[in-house]
Amino acid sequence: MRTRPLKVALLGCGVVGSEVARIMTTHADDLAARIGAPVELAGVAVRRPSRVREGIDPALVTTDATALVKRGDIDVVVEVIGGIEPARSLITTAFEHGASVVSANKALLAQDGAALHAVAEENNRDLYYEAAVAGAIPLIRPLRESLAGDKVNRVLGIVNGTTNFILDKMDSTGAGYQEALDEATALGYAEADPTADVEGFDAAAKAAILAGIAFHTRVRLDDVYREGMTEVTAADFASAREMGCTIKLLAICERAEDGGSVTARVHPAMIPLTHPLASVRGAYNAVFVESDASGQLMFYGPGAGGAPTASAVLGDLVAVCRNRLSGATGPGESSYAALPVSGMGAVVTRYHISLDVADKPGVLAQVATVFAEHGVSIDTVRQQGKDGEASLVVVTHRASDAALGGTVEALRKLDTVRGVASIMRVEGE
Ligand SMILES: NC(=O)c1ccc[n+]([C@@H]2O[C@H](COP(=O)([O-])OP(=O)(O)OC[C@H]3O[C@@H](n4cnc5c(N)ncnc54)[C@H](OP(=O)(O)O)[C@@H]3O)[C@@H](O)[C@H]2O)c1
Repeated sequence: MRTRPLKVALLGCGVVGSEVARIMTTHADDLAARIGAPVELAGVAVRRPSRVREGIDPALVTTDATALVKRGDIDVVVEVIGGIEPARSLITTAFEHGASVVSANKALLAQDGAALHAVAEENNRDLYYEAAVAGAIPLIRPLRESLAGDKVNRVLGIVNGTTNFILDKMDSTGAGYQEALDEATALGYAEADPTADVEGFDAAAKAAILAGIAFHTRVRLDDVYREGMTEVTAADFASAREMGCTIKLLAICERAEDGGSVTARVHPAMIPLTHPLASVRGAYNAVFVESDASGQLMFYGPGAGGAPTASAVLGDLVAVCRNRLSGATGPGESSYAALPVSGMGAVVTRYHISLDVADKPGVLAQVATVFAEHGVSIDTVRQQGKDGEASLVVVTHRASDAALGGTVEALRKLDTVRGVASIMRVEGE
């Protein structure tokens, strides 16, 4: 084993960074044996230097992250600051000064992954980011390496623990959205400002990263259709139950049936209780991958938290350190397929639509005609009448989102349709 240590600069020492530092210290001997050389924490960049950080030598702490990554003797920079800047500049500078980079930064990778990969490649260095998607769950490496000989057709996942916790609460207790969110906040599963989670931004960033890797195609954050889950109601859960389904916020990356394009989207959807993703409870994450040769694979585990996320970071650190020792680099960006990324209109799925309608003869026939005129075939219809008003629940066969959109627009124009109470996609069948 080499005795000269590999030097690691840690950028950020918060929830994830502090666990990375702890595991580097407590598992130092095992890490050295697995890598073939000891790893040494050479510096820790933070914002507030006076904060007490257990287990960290204060002499290593600095607020000058730029100087740390420019030192020239750093082998690996671990970026766990988060956000776009200064993380992006620091990673770029790290590559230019000879370091490889491990990052957990989904927002940055989803936005600027291609550019960062390019700088890594120019400098013959590694960029690894297993922790950026679904915390501890090995997903990036299985897609990038284990499935490199297969053809992935679909990635369907619960990639945000906060929203899964909220939806699971609504499902199991009958609570409304706000009540479930309040509980998630009280228990520390939701941040004071939950927008990034509940509006689907966090999941959309992960969908962009997963789609890019799965389909060997650059998928930008803007390419991902996004709908949050704040409008999901207890009534939606009751409807889902009647269909033998539950509701999950899903990230769905799909190759079109003709193989010529891909789509990526995040939205709440009904999913059959028999689907493995339906049984993912609490703040857990799970990702279902379908490919030509392997068939169906499921990856499950904690999608966040200091130690679980640090586990993924450490796995990358070991891989990158091994590459440094052998003078090699691991797989970089693979975007050779360059498939067009289609918008939401091209997505084909089933729909569950609840309509408030007048309770009088002929309404059902009128509604059915609108569906037929737009080429959307109805699977089942259920009608419930009360005091001259009725609700009509329509479940369709597979149709394009564009066709469904046209149908709903036309339905809204009917005098007998008082309102469209909810539209939910049905996935995983
Ligand atoms: N937390 C999770 O469960 C989780 C899961 C998966 C991925 N991630 C990703 O991991 C990354 C880190 O998340 P986190 O939860 O650990 O965040 P965090 O607890 O807020 O920690 C951020 C750290 O970065 C430091 N920092 C902030 N701005 C800085 C600057 N300009 N220069 C130097 N240091 C700076 C902070 O310093 P101070 O300590 O002085 O404030 C803090 O130590 C993010 O990209 C996040 O998306 C997190």
